[in-house]
Amino acid sequence: MGRDRTAAEIFGHATSLGSIRELARRRLPRGLFEFIDRGSDDEVAIANNVEAFARIKVRPRQITNVSGRTAETSLFGKTIGMPVAIAPTGSAGIVWYKGEMALARAAAAANIPFTLATRSMSSLEEIAGVAGDHLWFQLYLLRDRAKSYEMIDLARARGVKALIITIDTPTDPSREYNARNGYSLPFKYTRRGVIDIATHPRWLLGVIGKYYRNGGLPRFENMPGSPRISEGLSSEAMLCDDITWDDIREIRRRWDGPLMVKGVLHPGDAVLATECGVDAVIVSNHGGRNLDSSIAPIDALPHVVDAVGDRITVLMDGGIRRGSDVAKALALGAKTILIGRPTLYGTAVAGEIGAGHVLSVLRREFLYAMATFGCRRVEELDRDLLYRADVASED
Ligand SMILES: Cc1cc2nc3c(=O)[nH]c(=O)nc-3n(C[C@H](O)[C@H](O)[C@H](O)COP(=O)(O)O)c2cc1C
Repeated sequence: MGRDRTAAEIFGHATSLGSIRELARRRLPRGLFEFIDRGSDDEVAIANNVEAFARIKVRPRQITNVSGRTAETSLFGKTIGMPVAIAPTGSAGIVWYKGEMALARAAAAANIPFTLATRSMSSLEEIAGVAGDHLWFQLYLLRDRAKSYEMIDLARARGVKALIITIDTPTDPSREYNARNGYSLPFKYTRRGVIDIATHPRWLLGVIGKYYRNGGLPRFENMPGSPRISEGLSSEAMLCDDITWDDIREIRRRWDGPLMVKGVLHPGDAVLATECGVDAVIVSNHGGRNLDSSIAPIDALPHVVDAVGDRITVLMDGGIRRGSDVAKALALGAKTILIGRPTLYGTAVAGEIGAGHVLSVLRREFLYAMATFGCRRVEELDRDLLYRADVASED
């Protein structure tokens, strides 16, 4: 048996998240790459998420003695390796065989939270066996509330530490390229899709072939009835468009661990979430995959932080592609950021090693950002270090 290749051998000079994305693009069938990579409608939000970070400039503090700096911080009363968590992404299990397991292992090795998505293809039970101390579960409230509550009970029984309710997807978003590529539920075989897949044999054999050798196409393991991805979802398992804050209050009654609401952009919603007793809001526009004219999360963040003060924790995601972006988000008041696509790219290239590589790139860049912003500890990242007309302090 050959020895496993190291991250350095696999990734070579691909030591930025942008170049790792490029490797994933080559590795995956085009339709699948587009499924994870692209946005919605005219794809304005996805570009704006990244550009909004570039608009924020830093006015660093110099010679502050940044020796011995550390990326470690605390979240919900526990120490984590860096202020980064893996965001829920339903499709990790299709870019790599049991991709969620790869992500969960990489997160555990980095001592950061991993979120298992409602529509993931590894079961909570399998994941609980490999996840470290910070296993989170993301729930789309289903039309059938009783089934949703069963999933919450299962999450508790499997040792999930924190629950995320995603509130920015009341209905299926408009992503034309997925329809064209056949990437809808149930998956549709188009001539173009079949050629695309056939010309990516490494992915076909390594992912789909492996699922077939182990019992057939993957299933949405944690959804009611565990349907295969080739089947449609039953109406009870569909997204619900009748969710209200009363649902959040009810979930609060049923879940006593940390509870987060994901997809908040308006400060008014952050206040309502606070009144429902959640522990945290995640400022997010779903990585620009849903409402294409939505504000960039990093632009929404300071307003949300100001609205809730220190009553609850504020996290954010969307568009983070550099360690300096992590530092900017923290300076604007996020306690931790979540990352979606970049760790999927790494997973698509090399499973756990790839996801781990992405995390180590982010960690290295974040520590560099801390040093050059003039900070030794995560908690020192402050709004005063940033310059943007509407958020700079007044001195
Ligand atoms: C392929 C893909 C699948 C996703 N699936 C989910 C999901 O099932 N639930 C959810 O709350 N968010 C989902 N998201 C959104 C992410 O959790 C996260 O908000 C977003 O990816 C952050 O932006 P980034 O990709 O720029 O880091 C998904 C994102 C991607 C790219």
